[in-house]
Amino acid sequence: MSIERLRAHYGFSKMPFGKDVAPGALHRQASQQEAVARISFLVAEGAAGVVTGEVGAGKTVALRAAISALEPSRHSVVYLSNPTVGVRGLHAAIVTALGGIPRFHAAALVPQTADLLAQEVAERGKRVVLAIDEAHLCSPEQLEGIRLLMNAELDSVSPFSLVLCGQPTLRRRIRLGAFAALDQRIALRYHLQGMSATETGEYLAHHLALAGRSDTLFSDDAIALVHQVSRGLPRAVNNLAVQSLVAAYAQKKAIVDESSAQMAVAEITGE
Ligand SMILES: Nc1ncnc2c1ncn2[C@@H]1O[C@H](COP(=O)(O)OP(=O)(O)O)[C@@H](O)[C@H]1O
Ligand SMILES: [Mg+2]
Repeated sequence: MSIERLRAHYGFSKMPFGKDVAPGALHRQASQQEAVARISFLVAEGAAGVVTGEVGAGKTVALRAAISALEPSRHSVVYLSNPTVGVRGLHAAIVTALGGIPRFHAAALVPQTADLLAQEVAERGKRVVLAIDEAHLCSPEQLEGIRLLMNAELDSVSPFSLVLCGQPTLRRRIRLGAFAALDQRIALRYHLQGMSATETGEYLAHHLALAGRSDTLFSDDAIALVHQVSRGLPRAVNNLAVQSLVAAYAQKKAIVDESSAQMAVAEITGE
């Protein structure tokens, strides 16, 4: 099976359902748009919030879209794509993002981080955004470190807005007693749902159009099956759609029909 021949067979200008969609070419599914709006609100308010969603629900895309829409001259964004760097790594990442050179000893690094955060606001007039993706992987020590940084200012105004993005276990993790102080500061919780059946159809059409096919390529029952099995989660939709195309191409079909989608489901879920 050659992807190149498949591409030619269906007249795609590039393989559809690729991972990297340009920020301007994103599909606008409601629950992701909502997540972007909530994150923007958090930043405008200087507040803290938690965005959860299952694997592949579109959290990282939402977080990146919200960040890229921020006016760069007025915001300093500290973006951690993976927090499994320890407490030291967390502080060092903040210091580095704010243009400092992380001090070696924790006893010096923590106050350095707090000072740089305060300076960014007081001297440069910038809003600082601490955005942590995969935040369900944050250790208790890191969550405590974040809380302490938020409390650094005596007047109890947080020196940064905080966006924690992660899998659904994140909510429980923060609610646990030990983090009550952080939990109280969470102004907003949003759970990113999968797309509706209609949206899944539009999403498929959107990706196909980006690859140069604006006409009907997936039959309605194929779309319905992809939606049912993926539960509208974009990454699962992508995977099923690609496998459906592969199955349809193997039989030199012009249209991806339900039996092609069925083969894709069997391929992916082992059912
Ligand atoms: N609005 C969108 N438009 C196009 N593709 C999207 C969109 N949202 C998500 N995707 C696709 O779904 C994949 C999974 O999204 P991602 O944000 O990485 O999920 P999560 O971070 O929740 O695991 C992305 O790589 C991208 O291909
Ligand atoms: Mg992600």
